[in-house]
Amino acid sequence: MNDSGKILGIASDHGGYEMKQFLAEKLKEAGYKVNDYGTHSESSVDYPDFIHPLASDINSGKLKRGIILCGSGNGAQITANKYANVRAALGWSEEQAKLAREHNDSNIISLPGRFVSFELAWKIVNRFLNTNFEGGRHSRRVEKISQLINN
Ligand code: RB5
Repeated sequence: MNDSGKILGIASDHGGYEMKQFLAEKLKEAGYKVNDYGTHSESSVDYPDFIHPLASDINSGKLKRGIILCGSGNGAQITANKYANVRAALGWSEEQAKLAREHNDSNIISLPGRFVSFELAWKIVNRFLNTNFEGGRHSRRVEKISQLINN
Protein backbone atom coordinates (compact mmCIF):
# COMPACT_ATOMS: atom_id res chain seq x y z
CA MET A 1 0.00 0.00 0.00
CA ASN A 2 1.30 3.52 -0.80
CA ASP A 3 1.70 6.28 1.80
CA SER A 4 -1.85 7.67 1.47
CA GLY A 5 -3.08 4.22 2.50
CA LYS A 6 -1.12 4.57 5.73
CA ILE A 7 -3.66 7.14 6.94
CA LEU A 8 -6.72 5.36 8.28
CA GLY A 9 -10.04 6.44 9.71
CA ILE A 10 -11.59 4.54 12.59
CA ALA A 11 -15.05 5.02 14.13
CA SER A 12 -17.44 3.13 16.38
CA ASP A 13 -20.37 3.38 18.72
CA HIS A 14 -20.25 2.09 22.31
CA GLY A 15 -20.66 -1.51 21.06
CA GLY A 16 -17.31 -1.29 19.30
CA TYR A 17 -15.56 1.24 21.53
CA GLU A 18 -13.18 -1.10 23.41
CA MET A 19 -12.19 -2.89 20.23
CA LYS A 20 -11.69 0.44 18.46
CA GLN A 21 -9.27 1.57 21.17
CA PHE A 22 -7.38 -1.71 20.90
CA LEU A 23 -7.15 -1.59 17.11
CA ALA A 24 -6.17 2.09 17.02
CA GLU A 25 -3.21 1.36 19.31
CA LYS A 26 -2.12 -1.68 17.33
CA LEU A 27 -2.37 0.27 14.07
CA LYS A 28 -0.29 3.14 15.43
CA GLU A 29 2.34 0.67 16.64
CA ALA A 30 2.35 -0.78 13.12
CA GLY A 31 3.13 2.66 11.63
CA TYR A 32 -0.30 3.88 10.54
CA LYS A 33 -1.62 7.36 11.18
CA VAL A 34 -5.06 6.82 12.68
CA ASN A 35 -7.79 9.47 12.53
CA ASP A 36 -10.22 8.61 15.33
CA TYR A 37 -13.78 9.78 14.59
CA GLY A 38 -15.06 8.62 17.98
CA THR A 39 -16.92 7.61 20.00
CA HIS A 40 -14.63 8.44 22.89
CA SER A 41 -16.21 6.54 25.80
CA GLU A 42 -18.36 3.52 26.58
CA SER A 43 -21.49 5.67 27.01
CA SER A 44 -24.41 4.71 24.81
CA VAL A 45 -24.50 6.67 21.54
CA ASP A 46 -26.07 6.40 18.07
CA TYR A 47 -23.71 4.78 15.57
CA PRO A 48 -24.71 6.96 12.55
CA ASP A 49 -23.35 10.04 14.36
CA PHE A 50 -19.83 8.59 14.20
CA ILE A 51 -19.97 6.53 11.02
CA HIS A 52 -21.32 9.28 8.73
CA PRO A 53 -18.31 11.63 9.11
CA LEU A 54 -15.83 8.83 8.35
CA ALA A 55 -17.84 7.49 5.41
CA SER A 56 -18.18 11.02 4.04
CA ASP A 57 -14.38 11.41 4.07
CA ILE A 58 -13.95 8.11 2.24
CA ASN A 59 -16.62 9.17 -0.24
CA SER A 60 -14.84 12.46 -1.01
CA GLY A 61 -11.45 10.78 -1.36
CA LYS A 62 -9.99 12.48 1.71
CA LEU A 63 -9.37 9.04 3.19
CA LYS A 64 -8.57 5.79 1.36
CA ARG A 65 -9.44 3.22 4.01
CA GLY A 66 -11.63 3.06 7.08
CA ILE A 67 -12.38 0.71 9.94
CA ILE A 68 -15.81 0.97 11.55
CA LEU A 69 -17.35 -0.95 14.41
CA CYS A 70 -20.61 -1.39 16.25
CA GLY A 71 -21.97 -4.30 18.28
CA SER A 72 -22.87 -6.44 15.29
CA GLY A 73 -21.11 -4.57 12.48
CA ASN A 74 -24.48 -4.26 10.74
CA GLY A 75 -25.62 -0.74 11.65
CA ALA A 76 -22.20 0.72 10.93
CA GLN A 77 -22.01 -1.06 7.56
CA ILE A 78 -25.53 -0.05 6.52
CA THR A 79 -24.78 3.60 7.35
CA ALA A 80 -21.46 3.70 5.49
CA ASN A 81 -22.93 2.12 2.38
CA LYS A 82 -25.29 5.08 1.91
CA TYR A 83 -22.34 6.82 0.16
CA ALA A 84 -21.84 6.12 -3.54
CA ASN A 85 -18.07 5.70 -3.35
CA VAL A 86 -18.11 3.58 -0.21
CA ARG A 87 -17.93 -0.19 -0.33
CA ALA A 88 -18.16 -1.27 3.30
CA ALA A 89 -17.83 -5.01 3.93
CA LEU A 90 -18.60 -6.94 7.09
CA GLY A 91 -15.52 -8.37 8.76
CA TRP A 92 -16.28 -11.54 10.68
CA SER A 93 -13.38 -13.65 9.38
CA GLU A 94 -9.99 -13.25 7.71
CA GLU A 95 -11.21 -14.97 4.56
CA GLN A 96 -14.19 -12.64 4.30
CA ALA A 97 -11.90 -9.60 4.66
CA LYS A 98 -9.57 -10.98 1.99
CA LEU A 99 -12.46 -11.51 -0.43
CA ALA A 100 -13.82 -8.04 0.34
CA ARG A 101 -10.58 -6.61 -1.03
CA GLU A 102 -9.89 -9.10 -3.85
CA HIS A 103 -13.40 -9.17 -5.30
CA ASN A 104 -15.17 -6.03 -4.06
CA ASP A 105 -12.35 -3.46 -3.77
CA SER A 106 -13.86 -2.68 -0.39
CA ASN A 107 -12.62 0.54 1.21
CA ILE A 108 -14.20 0.11 4.66
CA ILE A 109 -14.30 -2.93 6.92
CA SER A 110 -17.13 -3.13 9.46
CA LEU A 111 -16.35 -5.20 12.54
CA PRO A 112 -18.76 -6.71 15.08
CA GLY A 113 -17.27 -5.54 18.36
CA ARG A 114 -19.39 -7.96 20.40
CA PHE A 115 -18.86 -11.11 18.34
CA VAL A 116 -15.19 -11.54 17.49
CA SER A 117 -12.13 -11.61 19.76
CA PHE A 118 -9.65 -8.75 19.76
CA GLU A 119 -7.06 -11.17 18.39
CA LEU A 120 -9.25 -12.14 15.45
CA ALA A 121 -10.26 -8.51 14.84
CA TRP A 122 -6.59 -7.58 14.49
CA LYS A 123 -6.05 -10.41 11.99
CA ILE A 124 -9.13 -9.32 10.01
CA VAL A 125 -7.91 -5.72 9.87
CA ASN A 126 -4.45 -6.78 8.73
CA ARG A 127 -5.87 -8.96 6.01
CA PHE A 128 -8.10 -6.11 4.88
CA LEU A 129 -5.23 -3.62 4.76
CA ASN A 130 -2.76 -5.93 3.06
CA THR A 131 -4.80 -7.51 0.28
CA ASN A 132 -5.00 -6.04 -3.21
CA PHE A 133 -8.02 -5.82 -5.48
CA GLU A 134 -7.82 -8.48 -8.20
CA GLY A 135 -9.40 -6.29 -10.91
CA GLY A 136 -10.34 -8.11 -14.13
CA ARG A 137 -13.91 -9.40 -14.10
CA HIS A 138 -14.35 -7.96 -10.62
CA SER A 139 -13.80 -4.39 -11.92
CA ARG A 140 -16.81 -4.75 -14.18
CA ARG A 141 -18.94 -5.94 -11.27
CA VAL A 142 -17.78 -3.21 -8.90
CA GLU A 143 -18.52 -0.58 -11.57
CA LYS A 144 -22.06 -1.94 -11.88
CA ILE A 145 -22.73 -1.31 -8.21
CA SER A 146 -22.69 2.46 -8.81
CA GLN A 147 -24.50 2.20 -12.16
CA LEU A 148 -27.50 0.70 -10.42
CA ILE A 149 -27.60 3.57 -7.93
CA ASN A 150 -27.63 6.13 -10.75
CA ASN A 151 -30.37 4.48 -12.86
C1 RB5 B 1 -26.04 -1.00 20.09
O1 RB5 B 1 -26.68 -1.61 21.16
C2 RB5 B 1 -26.14 -1.87 18.85
O2 RB5 B 1 -27.44 -1.85 18.36
C3 RB5 B 1 -25.19 -1.36 17.80
O3 RB5 B 1 -23.89 -1.40 18.30
C4 RB5 B 1 -25.13 -2.14 16.50
O4 RB5 B 1 -24.94 -3.50 16.71
C5 RB5 B 1 -26.20 -1.85 15.54
O5 RB5 B 1 -26.27 -2.39 14.44
